[in-house]
Amino acid sequence: MKSTLVANWKMNPATFREAKLLFETTKKAADKAKNVQVIVAAPAIFLRQLAVGYRGRIAFALQNGFPEARGAHTGEISFAQGADSRASYAIIGHAERRAMGESNEQTKAKVAGALKQELTPILCVGEEKRDGSGQHFPFIREQLRAGLADVPASSIKKVLIAYEPVWVIGATKPMSPRDMHEMSIFIRKTIVEFYGEGGMESKILYGGSVDEISAPEMLRDGDVRGLLVGRASAETHHITKLLAAIESA
Ligand code: PGA
Repeated sequence: MKSTLVANWKMNPATFREAKLLFETTKKAADKAKNVQVIVAAPAIFLRQLAVGYRGRIAFALQNGFPEARGAHTGEISFAQGADSRASYAIIGHAERRAMGESNEQTKAKVAGALKQELTPILCVGEEKRDGSGQHFPFIREQLRAGLADVPASSIKKVLIAYEPVWVIGATKPMSPRDMHEMSIFIRKTIVEFYGEGGMESKILYGGSVDEISAPEMLRDGDVRGLLVGRASAETHHITKLLAAIESA
């Protein structure tokens, strides 16, 4: 089965010239990794120019979006505008957005807003820390419940869930594939509880400190369909190795 790589460039690189170089490198690596579905979440301001004339397999994503199509919302970018710039996916509720105050209520409106523009939402969930009490499970359940609250049963298959524990984002290594496997089962069980058996097909991604060394093991043993990668996807010397590693996993 095809694995997915969401390359979350975050607020990188600093110039369009560098972004073009990074995209060129990503394209070459993606051409060799035929079994990987590559989704580039570049800064929105670069999307249209990267996509101009491009006819390859790479898809584009917004890193965030505003649910209304237009209006008096200074500084925001709507999903409609993203779709018009050739994005077909949208990351929603990334931990770095939530840290700036984005609420579960807002992720709900954004997931519904993205679907309305026929973008595939990538709903990010993840607890800030873990102790031995197991409290992260109800926390994730609530993020899922709220984020999916306006998704009708007919659309649930279109939503990707990215589990990104905040304590491993930007860290030195990912969580263990075994713990991810446990979390994947929990997420699927939760979505089945909300939507019935159709929820079993939910696509779950893992994110947090993945690189070319850790990617294969996570794909093999983590019970995930793909990876959401920050740093290792936004550096030219990593992305080629990362895609090769995912391809051969
Ligand atoms: P990282 O970021 O791969 O640099 O840890 C992942 C993310 O925040 O999406």
